[in-house]
Amino acid sequence: MNKLNLTTEITLFESIAELKPDEQELVRAANKICKKAYAPYSDFRVGAALRLKNGKIISGNNQENAAYPSGLCAERVAMFYANAQYPDVAVESIAIIAMNSEGVLPNPVAPCGACRQVLLETEIRTKQAFDILLVGANSISKINSSKDLLPLSFIGEGLKKGSNQ
Ligand code: THU
Repeated sequence: MNKLNLTTEITLFESIAELKPDEQELVRAANKICKKAYAPYSDFRVGAALRLKNGKIISGNNQENAAYPSGLCAERVAMFYANAQYPDVAVESIAIIAMNSEGVLPNPVAPCGACRQVLLETEIRTKQAFDILLVGANSISKINSSKDLLPLSFIGEGLKKGSNQ
């Protein structure tokens, strides 16, 4: 029997002022779009802003629906829009922030499993890892790749018939 230990490197910051200027700009974009979320059912608003390698910033927020599962998380709204508009352009970084009725949450909110899967597929498809900034009012976590957010991930290997040969 063998044991395997997986490690995740997270860089912690105490304030936005500690981030690089382009990262600060991304956080501001995530914060701005977060306020426009459509979240009447949860009153939990999430904003995601990503910077593409061509310099464009794409942002999105969660979009809820009376038929609850029809809604979509902020990360996927932003990432799918970016992939639709710029299918060949890799992502440099993404910032994610969440608010409830009391304001920005003190601690960073991490993306749900489905969003992690989508972020990872973009990373694999473009062959380019990107930074993920999880932004809270009192602390910010920076992770260097979606692979760190989703270890032991399903990456579609074996989907094609004959791939076992
Ligand atoms: N939500 C996101 O937008 N991103 C996440 O990573 C977690 C959850 C949204 C979905 C739903 O509209 C609300 O937050 C409460 O779950």
